[in-house]
Amino acid sequence: TLVTTKHLMEDAYANGYAIGAFGVHNLEIMKAIIAGAEKANAPVILQTTSSTYKYIGMPYMVALAKAAAAQAKVPVALHLDHGESLENVMECLRSGYTSVMIDGSSLPFEDNIALVKRVVEVSKAVNVPVEAELGTIGGVEDDLKVDEASALFTNPEMAGRFVQETGIDSFAPAFGTAHGAYKIEPELQFDLLDQIRQATNIPLVMHGASGVPDASVKKAIGLGVSKVNFSTELKDLFANEIRSFFIDNPTENDPRKYFLPARAALTELVEQKIRMLQR
Ligand code: 13P
Ligand code: ZN
Ligand code: NA
Repeated sequence: TLVTTKHLMEDAYANGYAIGAFGVHNLEIMKAIIAGAEKANAPVILQTTSSTYKYIGMPYMVALAKAAAAQAKVPVALHLDHGESLENVMECLRSGYTSVMIDGSSLPFEDNIALVKRVVEVSKAVNVPVEAELGTIGGVEDDLKVDEASALFTNPEMAGRFVQETGIDSFAPAFGTAHGAYKIEPELQFDLLDQIRQATNIPLVMHGASGVPDASVKKAIGLGVSKVNFSTELKDLFANEIRSFFIDNPTENDPRKYFLPARAALTELVEQKIRMLQR
């Protein structure tokens, strides 16, 4: 069965490592993530935005994740990434997601708090932990676009109030990462992250980890980051492998053949990312 992220992240937070959370878009990617986590012998978070579960179809989405969890030799959680509304969250709770994020970061502070409070209320009732964001993480994530200039760092004092008033289980701060690839190496604000850690005292989530050097990810883990989100690097690798397969085999039509190298490459990437989060 799917586990919640509550215990996974609290253990990671207490012991100075992080859980890998990977964007899922189809069966092949899901199987690769599970295989990579098994190779690294570590728990893993499968996560989807609402546009992804709409693309796959909610009943398929949850059935696939449950099947994965039943087979896997490691704990598996299913998480809503960047939930856009209370309705999004309710749909996931009803359908069997074991963790949710509500992203009210584009709202005014008090409106963000009010929305997150409502989400925590309904999620607590069914024992599903909640992640929320304050400040704005730059870049492009599905339908969500924030240009780098309007990305705003999280204010530690406001973060403290936000966590206190909402009762969330984990907190996603904006400290210099961005969704997608980076044009130049990101300058992460580690002093700010440390202040946020002290003000919040709950597990922190690093968004936009694709393209962040391993050393920076590790440093952030040392400052309270307990969940690290990867999406773009997986999508790029998957697409590149399929592209190069068809360059070499332009007439192949068997999905069981043309997906295999992509799946194998993704498995390796996920294993490597998870091992990096552990040391
Ligand atoms: P990347 O696409 O940069 O890995 O960001 C993923 C993410 O934060 C998903 O919420
Ligand atoms: Zn994100
Ligand atoms: Na990124």
